[in-house]
Amino acid sequence: MKRVVLATEKPFSASARDQILAILKEAGYEAVALEKYSGKAPLIDAAKNADALIIRSDVVDAEVLAATSKLALVVRAGAGYDNVDVKTAKERGVAVMNTPGQNSNAVAELVAAMMVICARNQFDGSTGSELKGKTLGLHAFGAVGRAVATIAKGFGMEVLAFDPFVGAAAMTAAGVEAAASVDALYERSRYVSLHIPATAETKGSIGKDRLMRMPKGATLINTARKEVINEPELLEVLEKREDFRYASDIAPSADTLAKLKEKFASRVWVTPVKLGAQTGEANVNAGLAAARQIVAFFENGERRFVVNP
Ligand code: 3PG
Repeated sequence: MKRVVLATEKPFSASARDQILAILKEAGYEAVALEKYSGKAPLIDAAKNADALIIRSDVVDAEVLAATSKLALVVRAGAGYDNVDVKTAKERGVAVMNTPGQNSNAVAELVAAMMVICARNQFDGSTGSELKGKTLGLHAFGAVGRAVATIAKGFGMEVLAFDPFVGAAAMTAAGVEAAASVDALYERSRYVSLHIPATAETKGSIGKDRLMRMPKGATLINTARKEVINEPELLEVLEKREDFRYASDIAPSADTLAKLKEKFASRVWVTPVKLGAQTGEANVNAGLAAARQIVAFFENGERRFVVNP
């Protein structure tokens, strides 16, 4: 009997969890949930005899993989899979999948909320501004970027996007203007929303060179990853530009966070935990998709969402 472990340090809703386990049990598998654990040991222990894992931001590194004996598949119920050592997984013959698009609306709605929070001075009662007529630059145009574009157009914003992997025609078809370059995106956008993954190329890539280009009253929204930000340079930009605001769903390093809170609290908004994808709907969408992908993989050899082919 195949054993599937749902390992979520940050749990899904109870309803999503139960539906995920039901799909796996229906397929004849043993399905167990490991929730709210801390440290790597419980994950290593649970993964030992697992054939497949479903995870969120849970870290599946070389040490976890090395402890497994028959693991064939890891499904990241979500978009970004920088928390999985995909190279080591491949070397060990373990397929890694994600569930692209399944939690994108939840993240996009949080982006909209963060733009409003910043525009209304964190609801402190002082005169704020409106999003209508302002320019929003989407740095990357995947599922979340597209969902943000739809909402932003509802606000009456002008939406631009830059994505080296998406052609201008696809942006135009979505009613979004393709920025001529990444620099042009930052130069023209009062709001920039980050949707880039954390890769060797993007880590530390958002710093003063880009942020100092943004127009007066600039706001940077980060629901992507903390690693893409050059934290010392972000602090420098906040110091130099009194008009600059930052909202993030991912806390920076403890040191940077302390400085942000101490010096720039009125212009910086950071969620207490990473909660962009934390809606009942997104939990069900991403979690059930992951369970179904596991069943399709084992029963039909379906490899559609494999990210380490
Ligand atoms: C993702 O990559 O899908 C999002 O960052 C959500 O991550 P989470 O499942 O850890 O909330």
